[in-house]
Amino acid sequence: MTGKVQWWKNAVVYQVYLRSFQDSNGDGIGDLKGIEERLPYLQELGVDVIWISPMFQSPMDDNGYDISDYYKVDPVFGTNEDMYRLIAEAGKRGIRIILDLVVNHCSDEHEWFRRACENENSIEAGYFYFKRTADGGEPNNWRSNFGGSVWSRLEDGRWYYHTFSPKQPDLNWENPMLRKEIYKMVNWWLDKGIAGFRIDAITFIKKDLSFAPVETEDGKRYPVENFENYPGIGNFLTELKQETFDRHDCFTVAEAPGVEQEDFCKYAGEDGFFSMIFDFSWESMEGEKDKSSPEAVERLKKKLFESQKFVSGRGWCGVFLENHDQARCLNRYLEKKDRNYYSASALATLYFFLHGTPYIYQGQEIGMENSVWKSVDELADTRAKITWEEKLRQGEDSGKLLKYFNDWGRDNARTPMQWSDEENAGFTKGTPWLKVQDNYREVNVKKQQEEQNSLLTYYKELIRIRKEEALADIMCKGEFSPLLEEEQGVIAYKRDYEGKKLIVLVNMQSRKAALEPGLCRRVLGEAFGKEPLFGNYIGVEIEGGKVMLQPYQALVAAAGIEAIHIGGSA
Ligand code: GLC
Ligand code: CA
Repeated sequence: MTGKVQWWKNAVVYQVYLRSFQDSNGDGIGDLKGIEERLPYLQELGVDVIWISPMFQSPMDDNGYDISDYYKVDPVFGTNEDMYRLIAEAGKRGIRIILDLVVNHCSDEHEWFRRACENENSIEAGYFYFKRTADGGEPNNWRSNFGGSVWSRLEDGRWYYHTFSPKQPDLNWENPMLRKEIYKMVNWWLDKGIAGFRIDAITFIKKDLSFAPVETEDGKRYPVENFENYPGIGNFLTELKQETFDRHDCFTVAEAPGVEQEDFCKYAGEDGFFSMIFDFSWESMEGEKDKSSPEAVERLKKKLFESQKFVSGRGWCGVFLENHDQARCLNRYLEKKDRNYYSASALATLYFFLHGTPYIYQGQEIGMENSVWKSVDELADTRAKITWEEKLRQGEDSGKLLKYFNDWGRDNARTPMQWSDEENAGFTKGTPWLKVQDNYREVNVKKQQEEQNSLLTYYKELIRIRKEEALADIMCKGEFSPLLEEEQGVIAYKRDYEGKKLIVLVNMQSRKAALEPGLCRRVLGEAFGKEPLFGNYIGVEIEGGKVMLQPYQALVAAAGIEAIHIGGSA
């Protein structure tokens, strides 16, 4: 692929879930000053960009993804001055800040919605989707993303539409005045010196305006065909880009579920609506019973390769293992017995050199795991609560539900960051808003800073190598090709650019993998036989004439690239 090398193609992004990162004032909730205190940590880690989850004024029904004032920092997180200072202080350390842009919906406590409710004929009433029905019943049978109906009723009999919780009314993008308000706000923040945005749930902004009921067997259905990447959305996204992002040197990454391959270039191609979109195509699926098995590895490999072959040469993706909406990757990919330094570093190596920009979610770099939730009262997530109620009404067993949230609940990723073995893992001096994972005495930043071969050290080295000047071209423009596809349990790939080669070889299983040396020589070419650039074991074992990869051994090898300093933990 040709094209320019934009800075963000060689950046590593770190996601901060603000509420759980670092509390600075003892109220048990992470805040902007807390991030500022931790800037030295992030700089040392080597990340270039911090994505901060929403810090705007909010009633916190969905932890800030329900915004009641886009121009104000919520007092729980600090002040606008704290935000401006954070941008400046991060900048001094070479770190840029991106904010979460949540414009599919706002909060029902936003003054727009308040006015819209008070007066059916107000300008703001046009900023939302309201409906009345002849019989007073729900306008249709669409299910919301969080469970239950997409419609909620006002006292005066109007129904309003929400893709997510009833406290997150959808904004009506069909309304030009509303769009103008959004662009004004986006530009206002860009003028404050942020580098760009992670854009929330953006593929939902265009709906099938007939709002016709859908066919279904059990009353309600989540009809993606009517509201995800719906035809006509491109006009809104083009305008958004022209009116805002294009006017600044702005970096954007969109959460864009529902974008199929045929539309990928429009979203994330060279002149796409966004710099990149997240690649959700290969994340481990809910309900995987056979994780850690060779079959699961083969499935992951297939999806990963399909996606990479498609994306490289066409556009750009954000690649990630974790975010604030998912269980921890160690729990999703690995059985308990297989979770350790080697498997965690193998997963890290696997995605770090793909075609795309790597994202790290807070705590991933120290191998944080899911919590054990003993009762629904311990959970905080609004989606969990809505689903819980709905499923119980439908007769689901509460034990089964609790098990589901233990395995897949969003709270798993949102437990406080484990900084040390002090009380509350060093996150707060008060009572944390969500309970700290029980294992914080064994798994924490301080401990891993002191250990030589820790996951944290490994991530640091991985980040350093990913950003090596000598690899810049190959990481941006290098062709992606799968290697050793037939080797069960092994995931390997190559990036090629103008005679330079980078090879990633990962044994994604708890037993050794034996590879034929002839095969290795053929696929690895010049890189074979050379000392690996980097890896989670020292060297490669040769046994009985075979190349033996250790359980969860991961290595990165290179050919034609000289200027890289080999070091670190390998
Ligand atoms: C996105 C966010 C999620 C939030 C939802 C509604 O999916 O990542 O956390 O609940 O949008 O804003
Ligand atoms: Ca606080």
